Amino acid sequence: LKKRTLVAVKPDGVQRRLVGQIIQRFETRGFKLVGLKMLQASEDLLAQHYASLNRKPFYPSLLRYMNSGPVVAMVWEGHNVVKSTRMLVGDTNPAEAKPGTIRGDFSIHISRNIIHASDSVEVAQAEIALWFRRSELMEWECCD
Ligand code: CMP
Repeated sequence: LKKRTLVAVKPDGVQRRLVGQIIQRFETRGFKLVGLKMLQASEDLLAQHYASLNRKPFYPSLLRYMNSGPVVAMVWEGHNVVKSTRMLVGDTNPAEAKPGTIRGDFSIHISRNIIHASDSVEVAQAEIALWFRRSELMEWECCD
């Protein structure tokens, strides 16, 4: 089974023109882009994506935020990609995220933390299946 993870640039990341810099960090690290699309996430999609948080006090505002504009969803592939992506992205709370991480460099507030990344291999599989059709995932090889 190929190691893959779901990453999404959240609406604030898109609005702040951070998409290119975020993609660049994954590419230069050496991960392979196998899925990419821009969409306005539906309430239904977000309710499934955040099902485990539906009792949290911030859940309604989280859904409003995530639906407030388009997101850029991506699937990245590579060795230990789930774990390495969590390191690249940084702590959920930007105040705890180390400088050099995406959140540590570009965000200050937990409710506007610009990027999502799957937090385990199992969750990654479920999230990729939720956000992407199989036909939207590209198989490609190159010169490495
Ligand atoms: P993420 O880890 O991508 O997925 C769950 C999201 O819920 C998280 O990013 C934050 O955007 C949001 N979140 C988590 N905790 C809080 C909180 N205490 N207040 C507001 N939003 C939160």
